[in-house]
Amino acid sequence: MTKVIESIAEWRRVRQQILLEDRSVGFVPTMGNLHAGHQSLLKRSKQENATSVLSIFVNRTQFDDENDFAKYPRTFFEDYALAEAMGIDYILLPKYEELYPDSYRYRVTELMLSQGMEGQHRAGHFDGVLTIVMKLLLLVKPAQVYLGEKDYQQLQLVTEMAKAFFLDTKVIACPTIRDVNGLALSSRNNRLTVEQYQLAIRFPKLLSSQKTAAEIRQGLEQLGFMVDYVEEFQGRRYGAVRIGDVRLIDNFVVYS
Ligand code: PAF
Repeated sequence: MTKVIESIAEWRRVRQQILLEDRSVGFVPTMGNLHAGHQSLLKRSKQENATSVLSIFVNRTQFDDENDFAKYPRTFFEDYALAEAMGIDYILLPKYEELYPDSYRYRVTELMLSQGMEGQHRAGHFDGVLTIVMKLLLLVKPAQVYLGEKDYQQLQLVTEMAKAFFLDTKVIACPTIRDVNGLALSSRNNRLTVEQYQLAIRFPKLLSSQKTAAEIRQGLEQLGFMVDYVEEFQGRRYGAVRIGDVRLIDNFVVYS
């Protein structure tokens, strides 16, 4: 049965026991509202580790928009059922006050890769992401942490942070999971109306096309998307668009 742990003190006792039993820990950090993308990370963790830990924490510090934070779907009972069905050992469900005893006076900042794309369009986003991931990694002490390639910039930043701070955790990159129409799974997709969804599925099609970044941007705008960016960086094309108040991001390898 999946055990839900809400207090850090209790988690520390459990972690000590896992250490004594010499069991390897796989970790999947999430903000909940689990879908098939998260499921693929949890499955991989189960396959590769004796113990699997899932965290659910809607991390306020990584949201630059109060509205987006407030609207972020909170679906604990469904998430619990999925974790339980998958045989996940622990769900960490910490509270803001416990995770941020310093009221976010201390934070992790990266000064290069975090400045473009998502970082440029969401002020302070990566400080929030890197700080919470660092806190969770120090608490969970996993052998491996599983992150999705949909948030590729985040994945790269966490991978490099783990190296920069000599963390004993290996960051495992897991492929983006898409629906039948090619739309990358995201908790925000649930907020799309039927018409918005029909538009949304044009985004991955155009972003993965043979056109140039400038042509793709223009094509997206003509279709009615608000485009935050379409950029190529180190052999990968990244894009972020808005449909109403729903923001979608995606990325693809560029084949030349
Ligand atoms: O990708 C996410 O869901 C979040 O950014 C993460 C890694 C759980 C940190 O809050």
